[in-house]
Amino acid sequence: MDSISDQDLIAAAIEGSKNAYNPYSNYRVGAALLTADGEVYAGCNIESVSFTPTVCAERTALFKAVSEGHRKFEAVAVVTRDGGSPCGVCRQMMFEFSPGMKVLLADLDGNLHLTTTLAELLPHGFGPGNLD
Ligand code: THU
Repeated sequence: MDSISDQDLIAAAIEGSKNAYNPYSNYRVGAALLTADGEVYAGCNIESVSFTPTVCAERTALFKAVSEGHRKFEAVAVVTRDGGSPCGVCRQMMFEFSPGMKVLLADLDGNLHLTTTLAELLPHGFGPGNLD
């Protein structure tokens, strides 16, 4: 299998963003997760008229991957119009599986704004080890 570059993962997130259902915020988000075995799962934000049930792109991608049996991730790319950063809920949910994963924040044109890690985005995070 060919290895997935950062730009490939950003491109997958942009592709994912095209299905965003965002009539209330008009804020389009795409995310793409790279699994430990080299597969890519993309997702978009999906909004609700009652707002609270809205799901972010990161969790859409994560739930797709986890529901197909994946538990370890190398990286996630998130794309928005402004290179925005994952919300706290998504940080926590991704931290559950791979706190060390690389995080690429880019815009919808594919320009990289920041490369970081999930542990940097959620320092001193509460993780599964806390319940051991
Ligand atoms: N959103 C995401 O998809 N990911 C984030 O990390 C931040 C926010 C979505 C939720 C909502 O559909 C829109 O962006 C505005 O908050």
